[in-house]
Amino acid sequence: MSASPDWRILCALAEVPPGLSHVAWLDDLPVLVVNLDGTIYALEDRCSHEDYELSSGAVDAAAGTIECVLHGAKFDLRSGEALCAPAYEPVRSFPAKVEQDLVWVQVPTA
Ligand code: FES
Repeated sequence: MSASPDWRILCALAEVPPGLSHVAWLDDLPVLVVNLDGTIYALEDRCSHEDYELSSGAVDAAAGTIECVLHGAKFDLRSGEALCAPAYEPVRSFPAKVEQDLVWVQVPTA
């Protein structure tokens, strides 16, 4: 039996203004939160190539991507999809929404 997803508060919207990103914690999991023109995206803050923190890399707002600073892999912020070598596996992404000035992410329940 699979668990149904649940919405959890990740951070305050004020912590991630438009055009900026923020790392918040979901229990012991670091989550990169990016605000692209008012739309919030949430990805695990871990490159799928060698587990480096994605939040150190540059966000390309026009393309909706982030580039890992260590070896240059790029990921789609909307889906977590790996877009170029040396990463081939996606980064875990979370559905995100804003309610009551808070950022919420949807995660499977334990
Ligand atoms: S650790 Fe991110 S590209 Fe290598």
